[in-house]
Parts: sequence; structure tokens; C-alpha cells
Amino acid sequence: MSEGILLAKVARGTLLPEADRVTRLREALPQIQAALAGETDEVAIQATLACLLWETLPQTNWCGFYRHVADRMLAVGPYQGGMGCLRISFERGVCGACARTGTTQLVPDVQAFPGHIACDDATRSELVIPVTVRGRVTAVLDLDCPHLDGFSAAEARILEDLLATCFVPVPDR
Ligand code: SME
Repeated sequence: MSEGILLAKVARGTLLPEADRVTRLREALPQIQAALAGETDEVAIQATLACLLWETLPQTNWCGFYRHVADRMLAVGPYQGGMGCLRISFERGVCGACARTGTTQLVPDVQAFPGHIACDDATRSELVIPVTVRGRVTAVLDLDCPHLDGFSAAEARILEDLLATCFVPVPDR
């Protein structure tokens, strides 16, 4: 499957009504799962998710992963959008809070989030979801939006479930 994802074209930066966003995400899910079927390589999965979620979520101006690479340290992974920070410690920003607590961070207004890291001044809201494998946060999915309130709790739940099915523990090699 090299043609990406089959969804109605929506201009980058458009914030669709919440119900339409959830419908679009639900429409994309089986396509994303089919694209990843049988894949176990972490980077291949992250890169493909960054690509397909970028297509699915037109409200995003950044869509990708930060990986847990050292003690309380994240490094940027596969992403779509403008250049992101290379490293984020667990002590900093929305991504750090997600990695530190192991919980989803739904931030409707980044200016109200103490310590938010502004990689792109245009970003107004953010959703960061942990990838947890065998009880350890191995990465976080970071989604940024140039609109206030760009993501809903329903989108967060769907994406949490998707990540849980995509990153399954593989037997030690
Ligand atoms: N805004 C994020 C930093 C990552 S970038 O925006 C791509 C944060 O506060 O963690």
C-alpha cells in the first residue's frame, strides 16, 4: 500500500468540527492498522504513523514522536511538520510531562501550560500521548495545532487505543 490513506482532502491547518474529526479518525483507523499489519520495527511504525496521522489530522502543524533515549531524556524521532526541538528532558514542556507521568496531556491552550516549549510560535494547542511497552514509556506521540482547543478527549482516547495496538512487545532477539 504505497498510496497513503484514502480520506477526503482537507487543507492543512483546517480545524474541522469535533464530530467530523472523530469520524475522520475512525475512518482512517482500519487503513492505518492495515498499513502496519505485521510490522514490529519501532522506527518503521513511528515513521508510518507520523505520515498517516499527518494526513488524518489536518489541524496539525507538527505530528511525530519523541523517543526515550537516555535517563529522563527524549530525542526527536520520525515526524511531519516544521523542525522540532532535538532533545527534551522529562522536566520540560508538555512532552516531558507526558513522559514523566506516563499519562496523556491534552492541552487546549499551550500558553496556560507552565514550561511549554514553543518550537513553533504558531502552536496554540497540543496533545501528547505516551507509548508504553512493558510498563516503560518508550516514546511519546506529539501533536501540535495552530488553533486553540485543537484536540478533544475523544480523539485522545482513539489515539491511545491505536498506539496500544501498534507498539506491542516483541520477543527479545
Ligand atoms: N511543544 C512541545 C515541544 C515539542 S515541539 O513543539 C515539536 C512541548 O512543550 O513539549
